[in-house]
Amino acid sequence: MSTLLSKLSPSITDMIRMDHSQVLETFHQFRSGMSIAKKEALVGSACVALEIHTQLEEEIFYPALRELASDIEVLEKSFPEHAEMHRQITRLRSMTAIDPDYDPTFLELVRDALHHVADEETTLLPAAERLMPERLGELGAQMMRRRAQLLTAHAGEIMSSTVRSFPESAAVMASGAVGAGAYLMQQASGWVSRGRR
Ligand SMILES: [Fe+2]
Ligand SMILES: [Fe+2]
Repeated sequence: MSTLLSKLSPSITDMIRMDHSQVLETFHQFRSGMSIAKKEALVGSACVALEIHTQLEEEIFYPALRELASDIEVLEKSFPEHAEMHRQITRLRSMTAIDPDYDPTFLELVRDALHHVADEETTLLPAAERLMPERLGELGAQMMRRRAQLLTAHAGEIMSSTVRSFPESAAVMASGAVGAGAYLMQQASGWVSRGRR
């Protein structure tokens, strides 16, 4: 693993918080009365963002935390909570926005995700920062690399939401790439300017 990449990457806990903020911002843009096309684009973007985020947590963050603390109740219930969100996502994808169950299903997903995010931000992220501070950068780099692979795998879906979306595209936020990319650029320019001194 590149030490430089580990140093340039945001910590895994900061990356998770950034993802949460971006998904919550997407939720916040939802309106029952918005056009069908915009609604489907926004919901589609939120679903891809949640899928990528939950997969990253399950593959990288949760196992690393579990190695150090297997008795955190919030960690154990995170897997079934992700599974429930995936069930709601599958259901949303089986419908169009004109289906009467579409809005209630999305709002149920929002409610569950908000509850889940609150648990992670108040329990799991502080626990990770307390128990494995020296691993946060390395895990952040791992998450960044895996995110790039998952974005490629979901490229068609992201593109489809982008095309149907609007200027302040939720699909771009869904990628999580903007925040992470901006952070990397900021860190990289800091390195360059420090190197020049
Ligand atoms: Fe989660
Ligand atoms: Fe999360």
